[in-house]
Order: sequence, then structure tokens, then C-alpha cells
Amino acid sequence: MSASHIPQPDTPALRLEGIVKTFPGVRALDDVGFDVRAGEVHALLGENGAGKSTLMKVLAGMYEPDEGSIYIEGEAVTMRSPLEAKARGVVLIHQELSLAEEMSVAENIYLGELPRKSLGRVDWKTLHSNAQAILDRLKCGFDSKRQVGTLSIANQQMVEIARALTVEAKVVVFDEPTASLTDAEKVVLFDIINDLKARGAGIVYISHRMDEIFTLADRISVLRDGGYRGTLIKSETNEDEVIQLMIGRALDLTRRRAAAKTGKVALQVEGLSCGKLFEDVSFELREGEVLGFYGLVGAGRTEIAETLFGLRKPSAGRILIDGTEVEISSPADAIKKGISLVPESRKEQGLVLGMNCRDNITLPQVGDLTKGPFVSDGAEIAIFDRYYEALKIKTPSWRQAVGNLSGGNQQKIVIGKWLAMNPRILIVDEPTRGIDVGSKSEIHDLIRTLAGEGYAVIVISSEMPEVMHVSDRIVAMFHGRIMRSFTTEEVTEDNLVAAISGIETDKVA
Ligand SMILES: Nc1ncnc2c1ncn2[C@@H]1O[C@H](COP(=O)(O)OP(=O)(O)OP(=O)(O)O)[C@@H](O)[C@H]1O
Ligand SMILES: [Mg+2]
Repeated sequence: MSASHIPQPDTPALRLEGIVKTFPGVRALDDVGFDVRAGEVHALLGENGAGKSTLMKVLAGMYEPDEGSIYIEGEAVTMRSPLEAKARGVVLIHQELSLAEEMSVAENIYLGELPRKSLGRVDWKTLHSNAQAILDRLKCGFDSKRQVGTLSIANQQMVEIARALTVEAKVVVFDEPTASLTDAEKVVLFDIINDLKARGAGIVYISHRMDEIFTLADRISVLRDGGYRGTLIKSETNEDEVIQLMIGRALDLTRRRAAAKTGKVALQVEGLSCGKLFEDVSFELREGEVLGFYGLVGAGRTEIAETLFGLRKPSAGRILIDGTEVEISSPADAIKKGISLVPESRKEQGLVLGMNCRDNITLPQVGDLTKGPFVSDGAEIAIFDRYYEALKIKTPSWRQAVGNLSGGNQQKIVIGKWLAMNPRILIVDEPTRGIDVGSKSEIHDLIRTLAGEGYAVIVISSEMPEVMHVSDRIVAMFHGRIMRSFTTEEVTEDNLVAAISGIETDKVA
């Protein structure tokens, strides 16, 4: 910053003006502008593919805009690289993790800016003590010397956040930071955000979770189809108004359905345990039924799904398909028996980012399937088209590399890929994580349609409206055990919360 430049008290921390960014076949940003004040949390909302991440990458020096200006504390700047942006006090915490997995946590935190001794050698002692101080501030329970690739996705996310805290930031952008965090980690993150805010940083917060937006944000700006649609003040608006601005129509998120007509029992689980991860789990799943699994992150729901999919070996109990006891030895075996699992983390879902959309959807998952019949190009495009329409995937064509799709649209490709295998028993783990509210209800409708066609579906979700909306019956889990199961008529927010907190509903009532 030039010495003569003195920011006025009411100058925003960040102002974007007339930003245009095009990619081949896509006008990702069309004359977008908005401002972020110092000490404000400014939420940025929009459907999948609306341009949120692209706008923030322009700000952080990762993309060069075709047109437009960026002002930091009133001064016009050009951001030629992420390091230059960081030097100007702008840091972006990415939606897609972008860490060097083979390096240590500390090296990742100070990537490109390792502290050096006079002869240019890396000062490892300073590096690790500085890095450890930041990890401690974030209450991370791992060491700065740990190799990043050995950390869980959630902890890698914390490293990504730690990286932002090495400078006294003026503008910090969080692009869907909570997608893979547990509730406890979320509390830590929100503390950090409020702390940054108190220190006078301007925060841009991107999320599809309305509850988070309404907890954190001071103002809310909305993008639609690459254009700026307006800014609302949190205290003067409500969810309906925000959704209306975002998708151009109202959504009824509270709609409930009557339970569907179901067929014979497809899957029966009796006294299933897997060490201490979950214990004595019993339930039935019928054809045409959607069974919701609700609980806090860590309640054992994902582990049950992984056991049914042959990724874990149960320590006790039985699994029956169509009344016959089965042993599921591997995912290939599960698929052969008609079970497929859409896993919760996109990073682990085996998308090939450099490969086009069609091939990712039709890509055979498991060794066994590659021996299947030769599939013609035309047939593959037809499969792609089916899910392109059903899931409203936003891409200029099937030829687009999946890596160029927005985060939410990558998630839709993952769902399409597992559906394309035509499983009878479908397990989806957090199916709408990172999906915008409009597409969310479309995916819920799709799940209902599949059930209507006779699929037996398990939906694991941490979002209460989702599980209440999509399920015929809901199983509430707490610490690895099923506490209670509800029909749609019985369930209320209160008894559901009580059950997943381990409180007997009858006793509190
Ligand atoms: N590198 C790229 N090459 C080609 N197209 C791109 C590239 N990056 C983004 N796009 C396109 O630009 C548009 C905006 O994408 P962007 O990632 O900004 O959306 P988003 O609002 O962040 O969505 P989400 O909520 O799904 O993360 C999309 O149509 C996307 O496919
Ligand atoms: Mg995005």
C-alpha cells in the first residue's frame, strides 16, 4: 500500500466492481460488484454454479478477471497470484482442499513463505513453533510435524484455515468451510470467525446452510447465473426472501408427506455390531421405502453404511437380503448383491477430475464391473443425459472436465454415477452436502421417485429438515446405538432432538 494512501473510516475493507470472467462456453461472472466492511461477516449465496467460488478466486489472485476492479481499503489493486493477494491481506480458504499431502502440516501452513536463516536455509525451529502456535489457537489436536496426507479431511480443513491465520488478514474468505466438519469443529470455526471479525477483518462466508448463514452473517449478497442480484441485511430479512432472491421462486421446505406404500422386506439387519463403532443395531428396510438415519456426526451412521457396503467387517450380528443371510466381503460383493453406497466425502468418491462428465458417470467403480458388456458411446451419452436432466447438472456439455464444474455440480455427478449402477438397495450418506437449497429439494424428489420405482433407500443426514422431508421412517442414533425409530406421523423436532441426544423422550415429556 502506498504511504500516501489513508483509508477513510467508512471505506469498505473490500470492494469489487464490474467483475467479468468467462470460461469457454460459460460466462461465470457477469458484471458483479459488492462490498465487505471491516468487522463484518458477509455471506455470499447462490445456486450451484452461480459463480461464488470463481468470484473469490478472482479476488484471491487465482484467476485473472476479463474486466473489473478490486479495491482493498479503497485502494485499487491487481492480484496476480495468491501470494500477492495474501501479502495484501486477502486470504481464501478453499472449497476444494488444496494442500500438499506429502508435506508436513507446518510446511503447508507456510507454503511459499517458509522462514529462513541468513544463508537461505529453512529455519525449521521457527517454522514449527510458529505453526504450532496457530494450531493451538485453533485447538487442533495434532502436531505441526504430521504429514498432511495422514490427517482426516476435517483436520486437513483446519490446516487450510491455519494457513489463513499467518497474516493479519484484512479480508478472509471461507468457501463452504463446514462441509466436512463435525459439530464440535464447527463451534471452533465459528469462534475463529468471530475472533477475526472482532479484530476488524472483513469476512466473506459461503455456505448452502441457511442455519449457518443466519447465525453468522451481518449482510447477505446473492449471485444468480453469474450476475449480482442484491444485498440483504440479515436482521431485516428471512430465509424465504433469501431463497426467493437466490433461485427466483419460493420453496416450501417444511412440506411433509404421507408414508409411501412399501413392498417386501429387502434388507434386514439383526443385532449388528462393529466393535465400539456401533452396537446391536437392528432394522428392516422395505422396497419402496426411504429410511432416514439421523444423529450427530460420529453417532455411527456412516460406519453402519460402510459395513453394509463391505468396507468394514461386523463383529456380531446378521445381514439378510430378501430373507437370506449374506456375508458382504467387499464393495464389489455388495454391488453384486444389489447394494450401493454414495459416500459422504466428495474427495473420497473417486471422481477423476481431468476426465469428462459423461465418463465419470459411466465409469465402472469396481474391478468386477469392468468385465461387463461393452457400452457404446451413444448409450453412455444417454446415461449421462438421464442424470444431467434428473439432477439438473450445470455444465456446457458432457465433454467438460469434471474438475471445471462447481463444487455442488461435482457432487451431483457423484450421485449420478452411483445411480447409474441401478442398485436395488441404495445408501446415500449426506447426499446434499454442498448442494444449493433448490437442487436439494430436486434431489429429495429424485430419492422419492427412486423409492416409488421400488428401490429401497437409506438416507443418512445430519440435517433435520432433510431427514424429516425425505424419509418414511427415521432411525435416531446416539453413540453407536439406535435410540428410537419414528414414523412420519410420530416424529417431531423435539422428540428427534431428544433421541439423538440420548434423552428418553417419554421421560422429558
Ligand atoms: N476452470 C474452469 N473452467 C471452466 N468452467 C469453469 C471453471 N471454473 C468454474 N467454471 C464454471 O463457472 C461457473 C461458476 O462456477 P463456480 O465454481 O464459481 O460456482 P459456485 O457458485 O461456487 O457453485 P457451488 O455452490 O456448486 O460451489 C460454473 O458454470 C462452472 O462450471
Ligand atoms: Mg463453489
